[in-house]
Formats: sequence, structure tokens, C-alpha cells
Amino acid sequence: MTSEPADSTFLRACHRRPVSHTPVWFMRQAGRSLPEYRAIREGVPMLTACATPDLVTEITMQPVRRYGVDAAILFSDIVVPLRAIGVDLDIKPGVGPVVAEPIRDARAAAALRPIEPDDVSYVTEAVQALTKELGATPLIGFAGAPFTLASYLIEGGPSKNHDHTKAMMYGEPELWHALMDRLTEITLGFLRIQLSAGVSAVQLFDSWVGAVSPDDYREFVLPYTRRIFDGLAGLDAPRIHFGVGTGELLGLLGEAGADVVGVDWRVPLDEAARRVGPGKALQGNLDPALLLAPWEVVERRAGEILARAAGLEGHVFNLGHGVLPGTDPDQLARLTAFVQESSAR
Ligand code: CP3
Repeated sequence: MTSEPADSTFLRACHRRPVSHTPVWFMRQAGRSLPEYRAIREGVPMLTACATPDLVTEITMQPVRRYGVDAAILFSDIVVPLRAIGVDLDIKPGVGPVVAEPIRDARAAAALRPIEPDDVSYVTEAVQALTKELGATPLIGFAGAPFTLASYLIEGGPSKNHDHTKAMMYGEPELWHALMDRLTEITLGFLRIQLSAGVSAVQLFDSWVGAVSPDDYREFVLPYTRRIFDGLAGLDAPRIHFGVGTGELLGLLGEAGADVVGVDWRVPLDEAARRVGPGKALQGNLDPALLLAPWEVVERRAGEILARAAGLEGHVFNLGHGVLPGTDPDQLARLTAFVQESSAR
């Protein structure tokens, strides 16, 4: 039995050390798929919940209690640090983050100031309460990556094609780089605050970066993600880098400097390992939509993922993106047990 997060299968797998079983957790494991989440969120706006330490603690614990996953992830959102430094935005149910005044000029970009611990004291408080309650289960902190944050800020909300974002990137590169520079400082600051408060690992969500080509990633995004991972080097906390639709970017994600690269369901893990290169653990990569199929299908596909992962230096089982709100929690309970038991060694 382990008694400290440091001995946990999750942190060991991230560090590419031998494990007693493949650790498993799920992006968006807390959320609308859980009846106990829907009950506690009744009448409480998303950003209010994120700023209330008791609610953050309880919601973070819900999937840990129910599934026995190998890691917890702080209940929050990628736009929390932006709201905390004064950006007028909200999270609309069924839509996502909506920004009152999209950022499209140098004046608006320059108004994004660095984040201070006092701006998010509720995050520090929740992390401290959680690390006590979680005991040996590690807590993952997270932040949105500059590209994905920039997309919400420039578009003003969720976007399919990221038109305004790319228009700025290609048409006003100086403004683009100034905005990415600001967002990099905010993201790095927010992750450092969570690490100081006690999280055991951090995940950088660059959910929408799959929209850019490798050459554009190298020029317009890589310098910033690299600065974030470099800024967190030398701590014992593993750094996880996640994006969706990143098949053609996996080599560059490897170059950006994380310890663990997240892979969506489009690239098999053994092929992903070749693209990412040596010296990295991988996290993934069951299609979250598979959980809407009968258990026998989920079990077969999860078994295939574990088989593909057999030769990896380190593997953390996860979905290729977040849990869909219509997912039956019993499927996730069975999947957790299946991964932990069938990978036991
Ligand atoms: O994984 C977890 O359990 C931790 C919680 C978490 C949330 N948001 C809670 C949330 C995490 C890690 C995030 C990150 C996040 N937020 C990302 C990156 C991860 C990803 O999915 O790609 C992005 C792109 C966002 C922006 C965002 N916030 C979206 C697209 C939405 C969904 C809008 C909707 O209602 O469908 C949100 C809101 C949000 N964040 C919810 C949750 C549980 C749903 C709000 C609710 O329950 O009312």
C-alpha cells in the first residue's frame, strides 16, 4: 500500500518508473455525468462554484469516491485565471466561455496583467483542503495553454474555425506575439500558485491547438508552451501536455518539454510514442464516445489500448478528451476497475 502521493502509480507512471498497475483517471471526471454533481451545482453558476473552496473540494472528491481513480483533478476551468485578473467573461451552460469584449487590439492585450496569489486565494485554499482529504491520491492542477486561451479571448467564445484568432496570428503577428506573451505569464503564474499550494502534477490544456499546422505551431505557439514547461522544470511535479487533433503535432508537443504527452483517440498509442519520441510518458486515449456503447465494446477497446501501451516507457490511461455529459457513470466505474485489474503486474 502507498501512503504518499509520491509513491502513487500515477506519479510513478508519469516519471516512467515501474508501476503495480496502469494508473487511470478521466478528463472531466467531475461534471454533469454525475448525479451528485448536478445536485450540488443546482442554482450555482459555474464560476461561482469554481471560486467557492468547499464546493471545489466536494466536487473534486466526487469522482474519486465513486470510481477509485488513481488521481484527482482540481475542479476549476481554464478561464478562471482570466476572470481573476478582471477579464469580463462568463461560462454559459451548454455553450462554454463567453467574453464580453473580445481582445482584438494592442490596448486590450496590454490590459492583461500578471496573476498574483491573492487573485485566486480560493484556489490555494481548495488545494490545501484537498491534499489533506486525498491522502495518498495525487491532485492534478491545470491551466489553459496560451493558444486555447487566446482563441476564447479573440473570438469572444467557442469557435469552430478560429477565424479571428488566425486572422490575428497571420495578419498582425506583432499583436499575436504580445498577446501570447501576456497569456504565457498568466498561465505560468497560475500553475506556480497551484504547485505552491500543493498539487502533485500539472496539466496544460491546449485543447484547440490541433487547428494549426506544424510550421505555424513552431512559429506561433511552441515558444510559449516551451517557456511554460521550462518555467516549471526542476520541480518533482510531472508536467502533462494535452491537445485534441494533434496527430501531426505530436513531435512538436514532445519538443515543448512536458514529461507526459496526452494523445486523443485518432492516433494509436504505439504510433503516438514513435511520433513523440523517447523520454516521455503518454496519457490516453479511449474515444469518450465509446462509453456510450455497451460495456463489452468498451472493455474490448480498453484492452486494445492497454496492449498498444505495453511497450511504452510510461502510460497513464485516460480518455482522448473529456467525459461526455451523457455518459453513464457505471461505465466509468467498470472501466476504472478493468484498467486497474487487467493491467496489474
Ligand atoms: O477534468 C475535470 O474534471 C476538471 C474540470 C475541468 C472543467 N473545465 C470543468 C468544467 C477542466 C479540466 C476544464 C478545462 C476546460 N474548460 C477546457 C480544457 C479541457 C477540454 O475539455 O478541452 C476547456 C476548453 C474549457 C472551456 C469550457 N468550460 C467548455 C468548453 C465548457 C463546457 C460548456 C458546456 O456547458 O458544455 C466549460 C464549462 C465547464 N467546465 C463545465 C465543467 C464541469 C460544465 C459547466 C457546468 O457543469 O455547468
